[in-house]
Order: sequence, then structure tokens, then C-alpha cells
Amino acid sequence: MDLKTKIGGVIFKNPIWTASGTFGTGEEFRDFLNLDEIGAIVTKTVTLKAREGNAPPRIVETASGLLNSIGLENKGIGAFKKEDYSCLKKLQTKVIISIAGETKEEFEKCAALVADKNFPHAIELNLSCPNVIHPEAKHSLIAQDASLTEEMVKIVKKSAKCPVIAKLAPNVTDIAEIARGAENGGADAVSLVNTYMGLAVDVQSMKPVLGNRVGGLSGPAIKPLALKAVWDVYGKVKIPIIGIGGIMTGLDAVEFMLAGASAVEIGTANFTDPVIYKTILKEFKEYLKRKNIKSAKELVGKLR
Ligand SMILES: Cc1cc2nc3c(=O)[nH]c(=O)nc-3n(C[C@H](O)[C@H](O)[C@H](O)COP(=O)(O)O)c2cc1C
Repeated sequence: MDLKTKIGGVIFKNPIWTASGTFGTGEEFRDFLNLDEIGAIVTKTVTLKAREGNAPPRIVETASGLLNSIGLENKGIGAFKKEDYSCLKKLQTKVIISIAGETKEEFEKCAALVADKNFPHAIELNLSCPNVIHPEAKHSLIAQDASLTEEMVKIVKKSAKCPVIAKLAPNVTDIAEIARGAENGGADAVSLVNTYMGLAVDVQSMKPVLGNRVGGLSGPAIKPLALKAVWDVYGKVKIPIIGIGGIMTGLDAVEFMLAGASAVEIGTANFTDPVIYKTILKEFKEYLKRKNIKSAKELVGKLR
């Protein structure tokens, strides 16, 4: 059975990856999983300077989902390289570093600093964090504006020495238009989606539950919406799509690939069970076997 998928010229051993912000650098899962089996690890978004993140509480469980307003807490690219690069480089799988910034200059500098010799294997540009304000964006998110998305990708492509994946926001009128912006900027792939904006209310205090008031919704609650985003973009751009949103089982991953994704990322599911990645990969392989499908690639866009 051939599970390989090629994105931006890089060959990934399988199309099932882990999503940014839900899997750390992978080290947190080492006692539970063989990290080398993972198709790719997308690390927590890192920024040029360290960020403290938003005021607590920052996570609340909702019906079939999770609302978070972490606000990109991270130690900054300098400390991340010093403390985490050596472990990440030893992994026998692909590593995708997720980066973000508040300004074009920050994106540019961060992208230039991320690159080491032959590492990482790709950069995921987080243009869609709902918990961070972007002063240069007309709307609150870069990925809510096709021309700004194009410009950011272009800037990063200039200094990136590896493929660039643009991670898009679902809170838009026409996600295909934004994906085209990313493609025009030179993105090697688009990943969709980041979380959906949401609100949880505490009736006792009559206040929002989250310290940041609003947050991003993830988990099974968003799966049909995320599938629709992939379906809407498939065929509208030539670059591959990476599907994200509420994937809990191997069959969920199959659904995203049928809708047009060349790979998928597992997010919130990692919080429900630390070995869920292994189960999802096993179920995915069992489906291919049952259906006598020789190559995972055959699934992509098969939905009629
Ligand atoms: C607690 C938490 C933190 C997250 N942090 C990031 C992040 O740093 N960068 C990013 O691009 N996405 C981040 N995300 C979004 C996920 O990568 C993913 O796009 C989203 O949760 C939808 O997938 P899921 O339903 O499988 O979780 C975060 C999600 C959660 C739940």
C-alpha cells in the first residue's frame, strides 16, 4: 500500500499529519507514540519575539468542540531554535514549522530565521489565528483579505528555503478567493482550516467564559464546515490542499481526502487521547485495504 504524498516537491511518508498548537513539538507525545510514524509534525506557531498569550481562562469545552483563545503563546524563534531544533532534527519524519507575525516585517524576519541547512521541510504560515490582532489587516485576520494573503506569502517565499503552506481562516465569504491569493503569492499548498470564531457565555457571572471574550472553535463540531471549505477550494487552485477540522477517526481523514485534500492534520483529537494518531492511521490503512485501494493518492478529490 502506497501512503506517500508529495507536496511542494517534498515526499511525506503518509498524508496524516498533526496540527499546529495541538501537538507541541511532538516531544510531549513521545511516551505514547512512535513519532517517526507520523506523516509530518506541524509545530506550535512561533513568532519573532516571545508572546505571553491571552488572559486566562483560555480553553473551554463546548458541545462536540473546544473553544480556545491561547493567543499564540510561544518563546520566540530564537529560544525555539536553541531549545527545540536539535530534537526536531533527529526525527525520522518531516517537520513543518508554523510561523506568524503581527506585521509584514515580522513575518519576513521570522521566515528568514527559521531556515537552517535542509531544515525545516516546510513552513506553515499561520495567516489565520483568530486570537491575534493584525494592525496591517483591513479585517482582523490576514487570511480574510486575498491581496494581503498574496503579499504575505510573497514576502515569506523570498526568504524561505523550503515549501510554504498558507494556513487559511474559515471566517470568510469566499475561501477559494483567498486560496487563489495564496497561490498567486507563490504558496506551495494551502491548509484549511484554522478555528471558527466563537463565544462561550457564563450565565452566573453574565460574562464571556474566555479571558479574551471570543475564541476559536475546533473539534468534531466543525468537521462538516471544514469539509465544505476543502470542497469549495478543490479545483479552484492548482496547488494541493491540506484538510484540517474535527478529524477524530481514519474515516474522517478519508472524507477530507475524497473532498480534495492531499493530506490532513489532526488537532483537537490529540487532547482526547494521546494515542489517537496511531488509531487514526490504522483505521485509514484498514479502509484502503478493505476498498482495495493501492495508493492513498487515489482518494484525492474522488467525491462526486
Ligand atoms: C488549543 C489550540 C491551539 C492552537 N494553536 C494553533 C497555533 O498555534 N497555530 C495554528 O496555526 N493553529 C492553531 N490551532 C488550530 C489547529 O491547528 C486547527 O487548525 C484547528 O484546531 C482545527 O482542527 P481540529 O478541529 O482538528 O482541532 C490551535 C487549536 C487549538 C485547539
